[in-house]
Amino acid sequence: MILFRKKSDLIIRRDDLKKNKFKIGLVPTMGALHEGHMSLIKRSIKENDYTIVSIFINPTQFNDKKDLISYPKNLTKDCNYLDSVSKDIIVFAPEISEIYDENLSIKEFNFQGLDKFMEGQHRKGHFNGVGTIVSHLLEIIKPNNAYFGEKDYQQLRIIQQLVIENNFPVNIIGCETIRERDGLALSSRNSKITGSYRKFAGKIFEVINYARINFNSMSLDEIYSHVNNFFDNIENMELEYFTIAESEFLVPVNKKIIDKKYRAFIAVKLQEIRLIDNIALN
Ligand code: PAF
Repeated sequence: MILFRKKSDLIIRRDDLKKNKFKIGLVPTMGALHEGHMSLIKRSIKENDYTIVSIFINPTQFNDKKDLISYPKNLTKDCNYLDSVSKDIIVFAPEISEIYDENLSIKEFNFQGLDKFMEGQHRKGHFNGVGTIVSHLLEIIKPNNAYFGEKDYQQLRIIQQLVIENNFPVNIIGCETIRERDGLALSSRNSKITGSYRKFAGKIFEVINYARINFNSMSLDEIYSHVNNFFDNIENMELEYFTIAESEFLVPVNKKIIDKKYRAFIAVKLQEIRLIDNIALN
C-alpha cells in the first residue's frame, strides 16, 4: 500500500501509470473500511493493473453536521487493512483543502430527476455533494473503471448519469451489496450501533426481503401497509421512508406494470443512526 496525501503527487504517479498503458481501477470511499468495501477493492484488483482507493470524508454531501462530525474515521487502521490485501494498492487520502476552495464550493448537476425522491428528498443537497466529489476524483485519477456498491443504489444510478452527461471516459461498475448473517447491509455507520440495539438492525433487511418475497402475490398498497405496521410495532426504530420505485428512473409507484423492474428502498433511524438499504423486487 502506498499513501498519497497530495493531489500533485498522485497525478505524477497517475501519469506514469497512464504512460505505461496500465489499467486503473478506482474505489471511492469515505474510509472506516469493511468487507463491503473490500469486495469492491478485490474486484478492482482482479479487473485492473492498479487500484486506487480514495479515502475522503466528503463534507459537502452531509446535510447534517452531527452526522459529519460523528462519522467514523481511522486512516491508519484503513491503511493497515488495505496493506494486508495488497502491497500494490494506491491510497489517495487528501486533506479538504486539496479538493475544495475555502467556501467548499459545489457543482450543480442535472441528474434528470434521479435525485428527486428517497435520499434526494430526505437529504437536501446530498447528491450535488456526491456528484462534486466523484467528478473531482474522476478528473484527478482518470480511472478506466470505477466501482460503487448497490447498497447506495440511487447514488450508483446518479453517478452513471453524471458520467454520461459529462462524457467521462470511465466504466461505472455496480457491485452487489454485502450483508451480515441477519441480512444487515454492511456500512461504515454500523460500527456506531451499540450493544442490544444491534439485533434491531436486522429488521431492515427482514422487511425489504418480505417485500421481495411477496411482490408478485400482494398489491403495493398491501406491502406499504405491512411495512408501516411493522415499524409502528418496533419501539426503537423510526421509519423515515419505505418506497417502491421503478429501477431505472427511480420514480416511486403505486401500481406494478408488467415488464418493468422495481426496487424497494428504505431509510430507518436506530439510535439516531441513519441506515439505508434497498433490494431488487423482480
Ligand atoms: O458511497 C460513498 O461512500 C460516498 O458517497 C462516495 C461515493 C465515496 C463519495 O464521497
